[in-house]
Amino acid sequence: MPNLESPYRILPSDATLSSLDAYRSTGGYVALEKAIRQQTPEQIVQQVIDARLRGRGGAGRLAGEKWRIVSRVESDQKYVICNAYDADSRSTSVRTLLERNPHQVIEGIILAAYAVGASEAYLFTRSFFDDGMAAVQEALREATKANLVGRDILGTDFSCTITALGVDLGFMGGEETVVMALIKGRRGMPEQRPPYPARSGLWEKPTVINSIETLANVPVIIHDGVTAFSSVGTMTTSGTKLLTVYDYAPNTEPRLVEVPFGTPLRAILAQADVKRNEEDIRALVVGGAQGGALPVSLLDTPFDFDTLEEVGAIVGSGIIELLAINTCMVAWAMQRSRYLSKESCGKCVPCRVGVKRITGILEGIVSDLGVSGDLDVLDEFADYIPNGSLCGFGVHAVNALKTAKRYWPSHFKLHIEELQCPTGTCVPVRTHRFITKHVLP
Ligand SMILES: Cc1cc2nc3c(=O)[nH]c(=O)nc-3n(C[C@H](O)[C@H](O)[C@H](O)COP(=O)(O)O)c2cc1C
Repeated sequence: MPNLESPYRILPSDATLSSLDAYRSTGGYVALEKAIRQQTPEQIVQQVIDARLRGRGGAGRLAGEKWRIVSRVESDQKYVICNAYDADSRSTSVRTLLERNPHQVIEGIILAAYAVGASEAYLFTRSFFDDGMAAVQEALREATKANLVGRDILGTDFSCTITALGVDLGFMGGEETVVMALIKGRRGMPEQRPPYPARSGLWEKPTVINSIETLANVPVIIHDGVTAFSSVGTMTTSGTKLLTVYDYAPNTEPRLVEVPFGTPLRAILAQADVKRNEEDIRALVVGGAQGGALPVSLLDTPFDFDTLEEVGAIVGSGIIELLAINTCMVAWAMQRSRYLSKESCGKCVPCRVGVKRITGILEGIVSDLGVSGDLDVLDEFADYIPNGSLCGFGVHAVNALKTAKRYWPSHFKLHIEELQCPTGTCVPVRTHRFITKHVLP
């Protein structure tokens, strides 16, 4: 296992651990040996439960609970899927993890397979993660040759193959039922749950599907023990989280950091070396494209599933982004909704039609065509869309709108009642028409 000085647990600072020798020299694959030779699958599942490892893919379910269901279901075939897709294209965590530490991901997948009794695993990633895919393919070659993956692993009667594949289907491509459809070569559309994949997943067989980041933590739990693992993080969520942090200056490179769960947002910005005066910040958007915007008064909020949910944000894709003080939050919510309306797969009517309707209403408000009744209609959509959608996309598609209305009601009021933009950045339709009239012949 690599040097596990807190908070670093899964992401080394460079790619020096990408080869098998390097990974092994820091204790890599010791957890796998220990598990296969000395521990039962039930013991592995129990340790993952006791460690309070929550899924890093967004919903924060306890990984061990999912594993326990799969391990107990009788079936001739079970599968493990490592979700290394990274739906939010501005996130840098998955590709970097694949490039820098592919063996820890592989070790986590094989440990999961051993724990639940699976003999086939898939690593599902994005087709344009060229370097990440190359690193993982090379690591798979090395691990297979060293008898860490494949038939009769480490000379035991436990076998498990890993197939890596890359697909690109925009934001929806990371949703778990879409992932399974794409692995089967079918059209990528979300499916109704239950049944959940743990009971009926890939080819209707019990399937563990976990985020790459969740699985990369498993070797740490087995190697270091539950107590050491859960000494980092909070009472409800152990361990660390990879976060992609964006400053608001245009064209700045994102910073990828690994922080313990529970780290205050302000400290995350400091760790990412983002230095801004509070009076220059309008908001901190937490959770990526489906995240919520928080005012600077909430900068001390600890980063954790429940604390973020209380204030309207999400762990989501792990992107944290600053908005400058000259941001009009109606315009920001409008841009977010416009983007999400294009990414919606369209299967559920509330999501397909509702997000477009929200976008249209917000476009009207920023163009000074809004009326006070719009705010009630927006509230209705914010309730209706999450309740009427099959997957988490619809649930979180309204977070931008909800947080903009919750924390910056004056921006909406000023646009609707005074026909003014709070920051003078929105260009009303009438001005557009005026310019158009004079520019075009
Ligand atoms: C629209 C959408 C996109 C998603 N994209 C990803 C993704 O890129 N990676 C991921 O691990 N989970 C993603 N998820 C969550 C998965 O559906 C699933 O819950 C997750 O892979 C389970 O792993 P975990 O329990 O380890 O979090 C997405 C969910 C939705 C609704």
